Order: sequence, then structure tokens, then C-alpha cells
Amino acid sequence: MKKAILLTLFLSLVIAGESKPVHKANVPQLGKNSIDEVLKAMTLQEKAELLVGGDYEVVNGKKGPVLPEAKIGAAGMTKAIPRLGIPCTVLTDGPAGVRISPTRKGDSRTYYATGNPIGTLVASSWDTQCARAVGRNMGNEVLEYGCDVLLAPGMCLHRNPLCGRNFEYFSEDPVLSGTMSGNEILGIQSNGVGTSAKHFVCNNQETYRTQNNSIVSQRALRELYLKNFELAIRIGNPWTIMSSYNLLNGPYTQADKPLLHDWLRGEVGYKGMVMTDWTERRNTVEQVNAENDLMEWGLDVQVQDIINAVKDGKLSIDVVNRNVRNLLNYIVKTPHFRHYKASDAPDLKAHAAVAREMAAQGIILLKNREGTLPLVQGQKIALFGIGSYKGFLANGFGSGDVNKPYVVNIFKGLENAGYQVDPDMAELYEDADADINIGPSYARHRASVDNVAIMTIRRNSGEGSDRRNEPGDWKLSPAELNTMKNIADAFHAQGKKLIVILNIGGVIETTSWKNIPDAILLPWQPGEEGGNAIADVISGKVCPSGHLPMTFPLAYEDVPSSKNFPQNDNGGVFDKDKSTIGFTKYDEGIWVGYRYFDTFDKPVSYPFGYGLSYTTFSFSNLKVRYGREVCKAVVTVTNTGKVAGKEVAQLYVSAPKGALEKPKKELRAFAKTRTLQPGESQTLTMTFRTMDMASFNENTNSWVLDPGVYQVKAGQSVEDIKATAPMKISKGVQKKVLAVI
Ligand code: GLC
Repeated sequence: MKKAILLTLFLSLVIAGESKPVHKANVPQLGKNSIDEVLKAMTLQEKAELLVGGDYEVVNGKKGPVLPEAKIGAAGMTKAIPRLGIPCTVLTDGPAGVRISPTRKGDSRTYYATGNPIGTLVASSWDTQCARAVGRNMGNEVLEYGCDVLLAPGMCLHRNPLCGRNFEYFSEDPVLSGTMSGNEILGIQSNGVGTSAKHFVCNNQETYRTQNNSIVSQRALRELYLKNFELAIRIGNPWTIMSSYNLLNGPYTQADKPLLHDWLRGEVGYKGMVMTDWTERRNTVEQVNAENDLMEWGLDVQVQDIINAVKDGKLSIDVVNRNVRNLLNYIVKTPHFRHYKASDAPDLKAHAAVAREMAAQGIILLKNREGTLPLVQGQKIALFGIGSYKGFLANGFGSGDVNKPYVVNIFKGLENAGYQVDPDMAELYEDADADINIGPSYARHRASVDNVAIMTIRRNSGEGSDRRNEPGDWKLSPAELNTMKNIADAFHAQGKKLIVILNIGGVIETTSWKNIPDAILLPWQPGEEGGNAIADVISGKVCPSGHLPMTFPLAYEDVPSSKNFPQNDNGGVFDKDKSTIGFTKYDEGIWVGYRYFDTFDKPVSYPFGYGLSYTTFSFSNLKVRYGREVCKAVVTVTNTGKVAGKEVAQLYVSAPKGALEKPKKELRAFAKTRTLQPGESQTLTMTFRTMDMASFNENTNSWVLDPGVYQVKAGQSVEDIKATAPMKISKGVQKKVLAVI
């Protein structure tokens, strides 16, 4: 009997053994064997395939990755090499949430992802915890939908207000942009998934984006555009970085060795992996040499390009191995490698609540004449503008859009908050295909029956196209302006008020009309819960604490880069058949945003960092301490008003005169209080790296920190400084750099 049992046991073990895929005992397996052992076992073909990205197929006429486990609708993948235990990994957009298709072949379920507030709104909160919270939820949806990397944050600087993708991006300032991006990266990656900080670098327009040569001075590059990414890398350590479509001072960024190898790895010490934007460009050998590790989408022919180049001695196998190692180091961190069992069911309800809360934190109150807001309950609201209803924008278009389960517009949000919105108007706008021009008589009728008017201005923009300096885009259209005037005249005649809401993805002209309404609220494109977040601020449930992450100029022509931003092909030579390279000269250099307006005392409509509250705050006891590596400042913020609220302390530094002309002041750090009750104070501590105050001297190709007295300023905007303290640096510092880019 015993023998029979032993025999059965032995046979079952043998069969079980044979039913598993039998790896040849001596073939190294990723994770079991070291990366060096796996690398050694890889054939040149396998290495080339790994560098060229995964297989693609055309689904419903649209090219998409063949994702064996993941969901069609993700943007791309890396290739599996089962022989060596290397799984495929899945790369999905985007900056406002996980962009996967709601439908799947043979599956009756619908799959949605949370529509989070856009990057610009997250930045407007000036609260790193807000960026982390939004990131945490986005990262959880990446994980639970079976993906590995979120192709975010989009973090190009707002060089010009008309860039079509500014809604995805954070700010005109590298410290605010880099710090908020870095914290969003921390939030996303806290789920054990990756990010791809993009688009690296100087992809600050959409016009001709894949063939445009951004011509940028070394100083502007280093003090603004590279500093932005350096801060995000220092804070968030993104698993990957996405090189941009464009050229930079000649080479394509994806093939730019001084950029991707010398600066990114050599000076910054970045240890992650670099992938291209979705380029399909065959500069294969230059990309590999530049240490652009992954080609997305890669062309099958590029696999052979790599093999041939190695065989012909045009590409060193050591360079190929270096890039493959970067990829393997990335792959071993991924959920696919960990065989994570995705639930396909993230908690969208919980994420929506966070999206609503974080959106409200970023909403900016630009104007509030005689305490128009908050709006007491029980008022009958005349709600104007198609953007209040079905035209409401949760986010912009392109890869920065997500397939959201729903969108709460302003009408719904106000109703949810208990306000009485005139039903006749909802009907009027629900039936309309476009915005409605409101004449004086209808406005007067409304003013006779309703207590207050709200008018929403909406602006959309997105990937692949820039905005225009025209009525209906940068400027209000004549119809919008006329409508606003008619409503204001009618309601003011009855001693009633008009509130304007800006549901926009980027800066618009405000000078010509901002004196008309009694209040102006800027929620940007606040995500799927936007209407509720807006109502939370309008009702006073949330005290507005957002501050502008960029400047609102008096006129577009005041913006230095407006002379070099493609409008009618100005600022660049664009060949219509797109067969040649266009160019955009960043002639403004470092004079971007407040650095220009503040330094040269140019008046603006609303300054960088501006934002009102329902209460007031004072700043006191600013103390600063110089350190060779890190400087520290503390300041006490007190709520001196009648309602609870939060405030942002912005820390600017004015450097002493030196060899180089410098901005009057530059943002070096910031911090936000918790909710302070009336009379309550909080002491905020802010730190920044001493060398981050240095200027870049192109003549000596080095960073220069001049000796002298630096003025450290704490304020509520770049123009509204509340406290100043001197900080003496006795000995200057000069630091050479590795590469000219
Ligand atoms: C696009 C975008 C990039 C996106 C990628 C994948 O062209 O520039 O932001 O992540 O392709 O969709």
C-alpha cells in the first residue's frame, strides 16, 4: 500500500513538473538571476527588440499596441521576452488620468477612469499634498487597470499662453512646476507604478511639434527649462522620462547625447529610463547612442537597424547593453514583472471625492467686489453660458483627456449645493448647439425674476494645435462681451450682481472686461467633479485658496515670446508640406512670465501668484538662514479675517548685482497653511538649495553664485510682498558644467 501511495505521489510530481513551461535549466531568468546574467544570455535580436518597443496592430483603423494582458486603449508597451522571464509592460496616458478605452472586445462591461483636475489647476493649489493626492489616485488606477506606467506628468513650462497643451502643464515658473510635478510623481509611484515626466525638453508649442527646432540660449535652458525637470527628478525620481518630438538647438532631443547622457545622467545623475514620444522616427543609431533607451512607437525595421549597426561596427554593443540595462532595471520594478493581479475595479467613487476636494483647493478667486461671494443659499440664479451646462469642460483634448464615467457641470453642481437655478435657462441652453447671445430685453426679464446672475466663459484646447490670438479664443468674442454687458447692465439696474466663471485651459485676455462683473472665479478645467468643486467655493463650504501659477498680461502682445510664437507662421520658417524643419527662436531668453513683467515693471492684469480669499492673512516673523548647501526660511501666517481659510506663502529671492543681468526676484520656495480659523497662526518652514539661486554664465559655461546680500521676500503674489529679510553670502561660488546642449 505504502509503495502504491509513494508511486502515485512520484508520478503526480513528474506530471505537474511537465505541465509547467519548462525553462531550460541553464537559461537565466529576470528576477531569479542578476540583470548582468540575463543581459549576457540575451541575443542581439532580443536586445534590439527590447529597445524598439512592443508589437502594434491597427484596431478600428487606429494603430495601437498588441496588449496581451492589458487593455486596448493604452498608448504603448515594451516587448516580452518569455525565454528570459521578461514580461511586456504597459504604458498608458495621461496627465489627468488613466486613458484606456471604456469598451473591450467580448466584454460587456464599460471601463472608466477618474477625470482629475488638470495640471494647471493642481499647480494653482500651490499645495504639494494636493499634487500627491491626485497622483496617488491616478497611480492606483494605473495599477488596478493592469498597466505599469502613466505617461505623466505633462510638465513643459508655460512659455507662451497660447500653447494648446498648457492645460496639461503646471506653470511659467520652474520651481512651482518642478515641485508640483515632482510631488505628483511621488503620489503616482507610491502605488508601485511608474511615471514618464514629459516632454523633455522645450516642447512649448504644438504647431509643427514633430519638426520644430526650439532655439534656446544655454542660460534660458538651464535656469528655466532644464531646472524644471531637474527639480521634478530630484523630488520625484520618475521611473521614466519622455523625450520630446522637437529638435533642440539642432538635434532631435531623442537623439541628443549631450542632453540625454551628459546632462541628464552625467550632471543630474538620473538613473531611470528614457523613452521617445510617439515618434516613429528612424534616427535609430543616434537614439541608441544618445541613451534614449526605448523607441515608442518603434518601427519593426529599427530592430534590424540596430543589429546591422552593431555588426557593421557603427554601434557599440556596450552602448546597446547600457540601454538594455536601463530597460531591465525599469522592468523589474513593474507590476507586470511582479505578476500583480489587477482588479480592473479601482475605487472610482473614493477617487472622485478626492478629485472634487483637490479641484476646490486650486480654484482661484480673481475678483470679489463688496463680498459678492460666497453666495447665500436660497437665491434664484440666472445661469448663463453653454459652459455652465453641456459645454462644461472637465479637461482639454488629446492624450490629456480621459474616458470619465460622468461630468458634473456647473448647473448640476449648483443644484447639488441646494441653489435654485432658473429651470427655464437650463432648458434654453440644453437645446442650444452653441453659446447664446443674450439681448438686453431678455437680460432685463431675467434680472426681474432672478436674484443673481452667473455667466460661464469656456475655452478648449489640446494636443496638436495651438490657440489663436483672436476673438473667441484669447479674446472674448463680440457676442460674449455683448452678452456680459447686457446681463451686467440689467442686474446692476436692479442692485443685483454678476459672477463670471472661467472654465478655461489657459490664460485669456481679461483687461477689456474684468471691470464689468462683480466677481470672477477661475476653476480652469476642474475634472469630472468640477461643478461640485465650483459650488463648494461659491457656497463658502470651501474658502478659495488658489493662486495663479502664471501671469495674466494686459495684452497678448505684452508677452515677450509673442514675437516668436507660431501664429501665422511668424517666429519660425514652416514649410507647408512639412518636409523641412521649422524653428522657433526663444529670443526672450529667461524673460518668461513674471521674470519679465516684474523686472521691467510692466503692468499686468493679474500677477503671478495672485489669488483672493474670503478671509485675510498677515505675515510676520520672517527669519532666514543661509547654508552652504541649503537655505531655510520660516514665516508665521495669521488668519486676520472672519472665516476659516488657507494661505500660500510664496518665497522670492532678489539677488545682488553681479556680472549678469538678473530678474528682480525669483520664486525659490513656497508652502501652504492648513485651514486656519480666524485668529489662528501657523509658522511655515521653507527650504531651497543654495546653488538654485545661481545664475548661468554662458561665457564661462558655469553656474555663478555672486557674493553679497540677498533679499528674501515672503508674499501673497510676486507683486504683493509682505515681509523681507536679508541673507548675506560672503563668498561667491562658480561651478563648471559638463555639456553644452
Ligand atoms: C502623444 C503625446 C504624448 C503622449 C503620447 C502617447 O503624441 O505627445 O504626450 O503620451 O503621444 O499617447
